[in-house]
Amino acid sequence: MQLNGETRIYGIMGNPVSHSLSPSMHNAAFQACGLNRVYVAFKVADVPRAMDGFRALGVGGVSVTIPHKQAVIPHLDAIDPVAKKIGAVNTLLIDDIHIHGYNTDWIGANQALEMIADLPGSTVLVLGAGGSARAIGFGLQEKQASVIIANRTFEKAQALANDLNCECCKLADISPLKVDMLVNTTSVGMAPKIDQTLVPETMLENIPAVMDIVYAPAETRLLREAKQSGCRTVDGRYMLLYQGVAQFELWTGQKAPVDVMKEKLFSQLDSK
Ligand code: ATR
Repeated sequence: MQLNGETRIYGIMGNPVSHSLSPSMHNAAFQACGLNRVYVAFKVADVPRAMDGFRALGVGGVSVTIPHKQAVIPHLDAIDPVAKKIGAVNTLLIDDIHIHGYNTDWIGANQALEMIADLPGSTVLVLGAGGSARAIGFGLQEKQASVIIANRTFEKAQALANDLNCECCKLADISPLKVDMLVNTTSVGMAPKIDQTLVPETMLENIPAVMDIVYAPAETRLLREAKQSGCRTVDGRYMLLYQGVAQFELWTGQKAPVDVMKEKLFSQLDSK
């Protein structure tokens, strides 16, 4: 790609950010579509000054990652209603000097889940009550799915269930539940603790579809056992992919080259 005087700048703001897989995924997408745009990593310590910097420099769009997903919100000119409910923004769209905030994490999760299940009218058991569970829970409700939150620290499950106006239970009490889908949003199963899972194998036989948002390894113990039990499964790489696809589409107004982005993202993950 030839950078020149008309190249528009995009990027990811986080701290740390050097490990991010987003630059190569988004640059591959821009290149595949012949767009004169470049995507770089911004290591940001000072959020308000960074936001003014984006306005001043005419940056086109920014992905937002840990630890800034909440901190950007007071510095936006507008926020998408679902991102507002979630209370976290992972995407900035900057038009002229106005910064619009969106959340595409829930869109990525829904898109991944739709590979294995129909969401409207379904009941989904969400394990975890952190930021990911919050985005996924509100996102599922956007698709008319019913959510049940289960978490190790029950008070956190209650607090999130209260915000979602949904049911909750203790992690230890999930076995008898009858659900259409299960989503693990906790870090259990993530490398290096790859031998761990929160779901008893006997329970999996009764769950049609299982998603794990852990993406390293792609096949967690939960997903391996779910496949063995006959569940349809989808791994966390697809949520990561589709949140990026939604960002590309917000920034460009055109269909994302999903296959190109998938190849770039998955090959980077394989080489880690
Ligand atoms: P994120 O923003 O990715 O959701 P988080 O806010 O740190 O991350 O949330 C992590 C979630 O994983 C929490 O629900 C946490 O449970 P607690 O609220 O009880 O801490 C859950 N979690 C992490 N390690 C766990 C473990 N070993 N067993 C059960 N749950 C675990």
